[in-house]
Amino acid sequence: MEFKENLQIYQQIINQELEKYLRKQECLEKVLNESMEYSLMAGGKRLRPILVLATYKLLSDKENYDICMPYSVAIEMVHNFSLIHDDLPGIDNDDFRHGKLTNHKQFNEATAILAGDSLLNYAYIVISQDIQNTTNEHEKSQKIQILSEFSKAIDKMLIGEYVDTEYEGKEITIKDLEYIHQNKTGALLTLCVRMGARLANCSDEDLETLTKYSEKIGLAFQVKDDILSEEGDAKILGKPVGNDKERKKCTYVSQYGLEGAKDILETLTEDAVNCIEKYGEKAEFLKHLAIYIANRNK
Ligand code: IPE
Ligand code: IPE
Ligand code: MG
Ligand code: MG
Repeated sequence: MEFKENLQIYQQIINQELEKYLRKQECLEKVLNESMEYSLMAGGKRLRPILVLATYKLLSDKENYDICMPYSVAIEMVHNFSLIHDDLPGIDNDDFRHGKLTNHKQFNEATAILAGDSLLNYAYIVISQDIQNTTNEHEKSQKIQILSEFSKAIDKMLIGEYVDTEYEGKEITIKDLEYIHQNKTGALLTLCVRMGARLANCSDEDLETLTKYSEKIGLAFQVKDDILSEEGDAKILGKPVGNDKERKKCTYVSQYGLEGAKDILETLTEDAVNCIEKYGEKAEFLKHLAIYIANRNK
């Protein structure tokens, strides 16, 4: 099957699963729930949960993804929390995301802050509930390990966001820039691959190989985000272009120039593909996912 078709199937699986977690009841906090849904269902690419499922599929012979679902849903909730807060006036102050008003523009700042907080916390509710419902002791201890990695990856994402914001308009080294990107974006992508691998009961060797792959695509993803912020089409992206420059952000484009950033992206993508070469045909989707990350226009 074509990569694009597979990608769409994965996106449908995730969207259907997320629907189950939306809170629809009549209550005083109805608007808070609507604001969470507004961002969660706004049309993201679902790259993070897809990484969980695709890595699991690479290593497991199970026909279904049931075991992955709570972790896939949870990471997409966390990702959307990070986007809502990233767009706030105190951070990037952006008005558009996914072709719609950002959460704080559509609702208000207080609602957006709390919707973000609630999505982050909801993720932990979903995971802890799943662990509580797991009876097999080996599986349970694997999931507790995942929970620990989950919380540490979010810690890294927040550190990355902090340093990114704090160093706007200031001179930083290339090493510092890499640190920002690896934390703010790379950490969650690596987490997703490792969660999929662990849920499939992977060997230490597989975990190591796939972690290397994830680190390459994690950095590549943010380098591409920097490139799109420079030369992307705001209509296709659904978010503003040129805002990194406006805010004097230090990015791969500001440091290496557009062509330099593109060269780095190409190398990272080749490295990612090489990392998983040994899996042959089975890794075809993950291979194309790395290429998609580099070629995407949104
Ligand atoms: C955007 O992530 C924020 C970054 C970490 C660069 P995505 O491009 O994956 O966001 P979606 O697809 O809109 O959810
Ligand atoms: C967002 O980074 C990263 C996180 C939300 C963790 P950016 O600020 O570079 O991403 P966009 O361009 O707003 O999506
Ligand atoms: Mg930002
Ligand atoms: Mg931003």
